Amino acid sequence: MNTYKIAVIAGDGIGPEVIAEGVKVLKRAAELDGSFCFDFTFFPWGCEYYLEHGEMMPKDGIETLKGFDAIFLGAVGDPKVPDHISLWDLLLVIRKSFDQYINLRPVKLLKGAPCPLKDAGTDDIDMTFIRENSEGEYAGSGAWLYKGKPNEVVIQNGVFSRAGCERVIRYAFELAKKEGKTLTSISKGNALNYSMVFWDQIFAEVSAEYPEVETHKLLVDAASMFMVKDPKRFQVVVTSNLFGDILTDLGAAISGGMGLAAGANLNPERKYPSMFEPIHGSAPDIAGQGLADPLATIWAASQMLDFFGHEDWGKKIVDGIETMLVEKKCLTPDLGGSATTSQVGDAFCELLGK
Ligand code: NAD
Ligand code: IPM
Ligand code: MN
Repeated sequence: MNTYKIAVIAGDGIGPEVIAEGVKVLKRAAELDGSFCFDFTFFPWGCEYYLEHGEMMPKDGIETLKGFDAIFLGAVGDPKVPDHISLWDLLLVIRKSFDQYINLRPVKLLKGAPCPLKDAGTDDIDMTFIRENSEGEYAGSGAWLYKGKPNEVVIQNGVFSRAGCERVIRYAFELAKKEGKTLTSISKGNALNYSMVFWDQIFAEVSAEYPEVETHKLLVDAASMFMVKDPKRFQVVVTSNLFGDILTDLGAAISGGMGLAAGANLNPERKYPSMFEPIHGSAPDIAGQGLADPLATIWAASQMLDFFGHEDWGKKIVDGIETMLVEKKCLTPDLGGSATTSQVGDAFCELLGK
């Protein structure tokens, strides 16, 4: 029996509510399969922990996480703690320490999911975003000079290394090649005259190694417009850290909402654990009321199963989400239903067994 050791960081706000359902589903899939199981370890890290201990996780937190096969994360952030502290000291430090340089986010409109675009159908919205996840605008490089003085200055540097750009772009080409899809690079070389000119150059260089992959190139402003007006033109997409962050919330909006959007933070070399999470935040506006949609977290669980080589279960889970959306019998309010978070998780587990 294959046992996967999973570190669970439920985090803040709706994090614990949605992660409980994700764990339920993983357990159910393992039970039904019989050839693998999960050994979950729950870490109480997050903003409550910070308010009590003055840190988001213990000093040896990263060392502790190293021993796991994967991390399953709910959400981080609480109005009582400054966001740049809570996110940098937990979520972002994990992504960086474990060199999870691929952020793989499906933007796929399933049957039955609400879509605000009046003419778009399920064939029109089927993208895989590959977001650079280790550097770029999120490098954390900068300075705050003369703080609080009239002449104060802040500098936030974008850091784009050749190795960092090449590896994410190459990953996207490999995926596009494997799936027989087109690849679109989204950048902004007209204004960002160092970083994005460099990105475009590396995209062209790597492109030469993949003559079989049809490529497209868009500026991020136009890309945002086309995601709404003509989403069909996007298949595999590769972009920088910040652009990928913003565009995947837009992607969520056109493919059913934040309650359905999942992401995998991958260290493709498997030297370190990868991390699976919904892309939404802690949603303080609805936390603690059973209103949170757990389907994004359940989708992230399917990405974990894919990563472990159980693509059959990954697919069954995404198909299960689609069935729930089509049947409309048990959905949370964001999808027009009146079920609670845990009722959706329970119904999902029942469906998986059928
Ligand atoms: P958010 O994603 O938490 O919420 C945006 C909107 O979407 C809210 O109206 C919320 O109710 C709704 N929503 C989100 N997830 C939902 C779900 N599963 N079901 C139903 N509705 C859902 O974004 P925000 O409000 O900008 O951020 C709140 C906090 O979360 C901040 O502290 C932010 O820094 C943090 N954050 C954390 C992560 C993460 O941990 N990965 C991601 C984004 C934001
Ligand atoms: C996401 C989130 C994070 C990001 C924040 C919370 C730091 O918005 O995962 O999309 O910007 O990467
Ligand atoms: Mn985001």
